[in-house]
Amino acid sequence: MTPTVAAFPAARLRRTRSSPAIRNLVRENNLSVGDLIWPVFVRDGTGVEEPIASMPGVLRRSVDKIAAAALEAQALGIPAICLFPYTDPSLKTEDCAEAWNPDNLINRAIRAIKSAAPDIAVMTDVALDPYNINGHDGYVVNGEIVNDATVEALVKMTLAQAEAGADIIGPSDMMDGRIAAMRNALEQAGHSTVMILSYSAKYASGYYGPFRDAVGASGALTGDKKTYQMDPANSDEALRLVQRDLNEGADMVMIKPGIAYLDICHRVKTSFGVPTFAYQVSGEYAMIQAAALNGWINGEQVMLESLMAFKRAGCDGVLTYFAPEVARLLNT
Ligand code: PBG
Repeated sequence: MTPTVAAFPAARLRRTRSSPAIRNLVRENNLSVGDLIWPVFVRDGTGVEEPIASMPGVLRRSVDKIAAAALEAQALGIPAICLFPYTDPSLKTEDCAEAWNPDNLINRAIRAIKSAAPDIAVMTDVALDPYNINGHDGYVVNGEIVNDATVEALVKMTLAQAEAGADIIGPSDMMDGRIAAMRNALEQAGHSTVMILSYSAKYASGYYGPFRDAVGASGALTGDKKTYQMDPANSDEALRLVQRDLNEGADMVMIKPGIAYLDICHRVKTSFGVPTFAYQVSGEYAMIQAAALNGWINGEQVMLESLMAFKRAGCDGVLTYFAPEVARLLNT
């Protein structure tokens, strides 16, 4: 649709910007608490809340504190919380067996949230990196990330999370064929209502730096993730990945990172019309926080503006570390 504009002075476009009331009336997009998914970091211990230096304001929490945080998020109206583990280095192995241990940190956290705050949806991350001795999302054999053996491990991980009570499985590994394998396994195990939110278009990005500190994977990672995560130069490929994941049974799809990839969000939403999410990743969060803490930008304004940009681009929701702060602001 091409917008039509009358000639001046019939059209004075400033008229509809003249007051808060009128601006409210003509606003095209809205950000609401219902759009937020809150990513959180889990660690071992009890009563622990530990700051992460590269993500000011974000904490690693022990399972009891995660349950308390989920209860708080539920009270704020945040619909979903997404769990990431800081795994003890002694539990990282080449076979990544801790990933599907029914009593690992994530599965314990899922059960704790489900009993403390049953109305918030619990999303998980499926990839081997927090459990892998070399920091990769897949198995490394002779220096190569092997696809099919990794998918088998991811299926075991998925089933353990579903068994613990996860509502939404979030494969972030970028292996081929994983969505179909996970969907089949979930159906066969009787978990037909468990959803898959696929990290369909996940780019090999420098914006993940602070996250890798948060989960303790920075030191471990050998090489880069470019043989499985996408080339930032590509856009058509993102559509093929989304199409493929939908065909294999993904219920929802994600683009990651966020702000630098709004064109992809827009193309995905307009091409497929499916539930579309973006992940405002750790580096984006850190950049806003660092500038705000230096007094160089108005942090609150930039936070809200960046989140509105996702809505404008067509996203149905956003994974953001700002979720509780935004929810508090929007609720007042
Ligand atoms: C790992 C994973 C990553 C993130 C989510 N899941 C990092 C990576 O791929 O190296 C990044 C999230 C963020 O930066 O906030 N499978």
